[in-house]
Amino acid sequence: MSGDALQSATGAGRPTEGRTEQDQTPYLDAIVEYAERRPGRFHVPGHKGGHGADPAAIDALGQAAFDRDVPAGIEGIDVGADSPFQQAQRLAAKAWGARRSWFLINGASQGNHGTCLALRHAGKRVVVQRNAHSSTIDGIILAGLEPSFVAPELDAELGVAHCLTPESLAEALDRSPDAVAALTVSPTYFGAVADVTGLAEVCHDRNLPLVVDEAWGSHLRFSPLLPASALECDADLVLSSVHKLLVDRCVTLTESTSPSALLTASLDAARRHAAVHGTELLAETLAGVERARAEVQRIGGLEVLDERLVGRPGVHGWDPLRLSIDVRATGSTGTRLASLMRELDDINLELVSENVVVAALGMGENAARSAGRFAAAMRRAVEVLGAEPQLPKRPFTPPPPWGSLEAPPREAFFGPQEVVPFDEAVGRVAAESLAAYPPGIPNVLPGERLTQETVDYIHEVVEHGGWVRGAVDRSLRTIRVVSE
Ligand SMILES: Cc1ncc(COP(=O)(O)O)c(C=O)c1O
Repeated sequence: MSGDALQSATGAGRPTEGRTEQDQTPYLDAIVEYAERRPGRFHVPGHKGGHGADPAAIDALGQAAFDRDVPAGIEGIDVGADSPFQQAQRLAAKAWGARRSWFLINGASQGNHGTCLALRHAGKRVVVQRNAHSSTIDGIILAGLEPSFVAPELDAELGVAHCLTPESLAEALDRSPDAVAALTVSPTYFGAVADVTGLAEVCHDRNLPLVVDEAWGSHLRFSPLLPASALECDADLVLSSVHKLLVDRCVTLTESTSPSALLTASLDAARRHAAVHGTELLAETLAGVERARAEVQRIGGLEVLDERLVGRPGVHGWDPLRLSIDVRATGSTGTRLASLMRELDDINLELVSENVVVAALGMGENAARSAGRFAAAMRRAVEVLGAEPQLPKRPFTPPPPWGSLEAPPREAFFGPQEVVPFDEAVGRVAAESLAAYPPGIPNVLPGERLTQETVDYIHEVVEHGGWVRGAVDRSLRTIRVVSE
């Protein structure tokens, strides 16, 4: 089970301080205690501790999960003065060094939605990293924000996007003097970590908050062996000038009114585990990562991407829990390699692109043991690849500039629309998004005018085995555009 947390800026020390406090799980304890006292459950959920549940679901999930599945309105759990729910969020804030933390039962997506809604109270214009997660774009639509986009650094050699540099953020903010915040992403899917201190400085010099989507970096806080987390580098994440009740309301606006206690308890427990044992567990995992890297490196045709990339534009640090592997020298593609690993050994990867595949390792994972299985499967797949004809490869060309923003994304998304053949859409204003992979930077977002260059580029990527995300018609024969 998982959820996420939205943190607001900071000050507190490293999580090892106050360790006894971090050893507690008030929310988890409260739902266990409630179930154990066999209360009269005259409330939802209707399965009543499992009595009304399908036996196969109990078999799969365990009786305990049903016993502890309680609604959010129970006195002494979520409700009451200084409730276990409030205590658990406070402990999370302290663990991550934040002033305030919100448990997000609808995931990091809810954090991005809530953040955009909160920012809208400060103004309309925001500067946004072009390849922000789709939930940020959804947040922009929900909130009616007007984005000015800024491109992340493109690694033309690997065909992947890294992070935003402070220089390009500064230029973008200078071009948008009415901006009320900057929204960025770090780390990337591939493991690149941004110069968050530099980005924060650029924002703070202009009295603006920096929001960092650190959906992939919650572990960074817990090991001195890892790059510093965004909050340690002065990111704000939420508008410091917005009253906290407002952020509360924006977070709850996008959340179920009956959030799952099981998800909340899992966040409470995950926080304890990371705060109390994270440093030691991550040290073990990192030792295993070294072994995994060494084994993969010995396989001909593969190159592990690691800290040696630091210093390339947009790469300030590297997250080693992302085992990113450059497969170009195999003569094949990451997509083909990944499908062989799945077919031959049931190994499933986190992310696959034309040139790079990414395996995600987790805190506490016995990475040394997983490394053996992973490397063996990779070796086998590479051997099979060697016997196959080499795939024709298209040299990577950076995407053309995106079209002009003719209408705010919200207007394009909600306004009158029509469906037209993709090839006849040049000159029309898009009502949906298109992002060609690689490298996955959106080529078109709602409200932008489609250009001939963009349509040609998307065709070319698809003809060479790439794919496009975002369109309702996945075959890309048609696209939704604004009726004009
Ligand atoms: C950078 C980033 N932000 C936000 C999200 C959304 O997270 P969730 O799926 O937990 O809502 C993701 C998901 O992959 C992500 O990669």
